[in-house]
Amino acid sequence: MAQNWTPNSWRQKPVQQVPDYPDAAALAATEEQLASFPPLVFAGEARRLKSALANVAEGKGFLLQGGDCAESFAEHGADTIRDFFRAFLQMAVVLTFGSQQPVVKVGRIAGQFAKPRSSNIEKQGDVTLPSYRGDIINGIEFTEEARVPSPERQIMAYRQSAATLNLLRAFAMGGYANLENVHQWMLGFVKDSPQAERYRKLAHRISETMDFMKAIGITADNHPSLRETDFFTSHEALLLGYEQALTRVDSTSGDWYATSGHMIWIGDRTRQPDHAHIEYCRGIKNPIGLKCGPSLSADGLLELIDILNPANEAGRLTLICRFGHDKVAENLPRLIRAVEREGKKVVWSCDPMHGNTITLNNYKTRPFERVLSEVESFFQIHRSEGTHPGGIHVEMTGKDVTECTGGARALSGDDLADRYHTHCDPRLNADQALELAFLLAERLKTGRDEKRMVVNG
Ligand code: TRP
Ligand code: MN
Repeated sequence: MAQNWTPNSWRQKPVQQVPDYPDAAALAATEEQLASFPPLVFAGEARRLKSALANVAEGKGFLLQGGDCAESFAEHGADTIRDFFRAFLQMAVVLTFGSQQPVVKVGRIAGQFAKPRSSNIEKQGDVTLPSYRGDIINGIEFTEEARVPSPERQIMAYRQSAATLNLLRAFAMGGYANLENVHQWMLGFVKDSPQAERYRKLAHRISETMDFMKAIGITADNHPSLRETDFFTSHEALLLGYEQALTRVDSTSGDWYATSGHMIWIGDRTRQPDHAHIEYCRGIKNPIGLKCGPSLSADGLLELIDILNPANEAGRLTLICRFGHDKVAENLPRLIRAVEREGKKVVWSCDPMHGNTITLNNYKTRPFERVLSEVESFFQIHRSEGTHPGGIHVEMTGKDVTECTGGARALSGDDLADRYHTHCDPRLNADQALELAFLLAERLKTGRDEKRMVVNG
């Protein structure tokens, strides 16, 4: 039944969320140019991520996925990337130490530029313009010129992704991520950070462990795993012309891979089984994420799993659940039961951001209590279903922004105006992200202790 797939077979299908490029010839020329550019990531790296995710699917490990809602051309700089990476490493180390399980690290970065929108138009006063769709498509400024989709932006996004990835690889492999630096990563804390003391204590215990290991001959010099980390990139595969241009045959296996990032995901708005986004994703071999919202039925999910992962390969598919703190209890169990009944191998990840967005003082925001509450429910439900809560997917930044309310610093609606910088949805700031990591580590540890009791019981 499955029809022949090619990198452009999606073009025969209905497609949602496509920009209206005024100049089709210019778009085609850009896509051709992109197709001649080097790949951003390699197939072998995507396979490595897939096998790490296969372990998570089997209950051995945890997926940490996070980054900007939308990357922007304006904020492209070394400090932004370093601040993000540092906050992300802090979360990873808290999770690894707390859960005593490997943490698979995947950034929403180096390619996260295209945004699906609920409306094609945006109105301000009497003026109506096309919606902003991410820097890879058009400009955020509310002017007619900025909102016209421009193919040239795809080249800029590609080049920014390459530069970002280059710095991230240097950080991950060149010494910055060395566990001996666990105290150095403290430097990013803003004054009086509520999480600083907690982190300092944990860093101290890690340093002690490292000193002990050094005494018995295990050092970062003779054990690269202490000084390096595998860091992967991911983004929503929304702009399919761009994705197609970067889809390449892997010379070792002869398989097709998306080389725009290691993992790509399909949004909740573009997951129609007979439409273009599913068609594109079914043919590439990368690990795939599928956003699951309240409108996804159990049968609908099983149908998508069969299309995207017909061989039931562990690590291929991550289900990123984004229901909302008040809807997760009603929606998650039915999906888990269907997947379990059919014996499908998946990673269950929780996106506690996208179902919890509200408007306050004219700002789009997310109350941190609701984010935590969705995470708590996610863990509770998995515990009672006997399945593995395998991951978290968050929108976060390493900066001290004021976009989500609440947290240990208790940001209020009136604080939002201070440092509200996001190009799209509100992100957790560095402090809130770390607070969430501590909570996750506790829950993962409880789960592990319970399992041990059952085994030893
Ligand atoms: N290589 C291991 C890992 O990535 C240990 C490690 C090195 C690490 N640097 C890290 C873990 C930074 C978390 C954060 O898991
Ligand atoms: Mn978002």
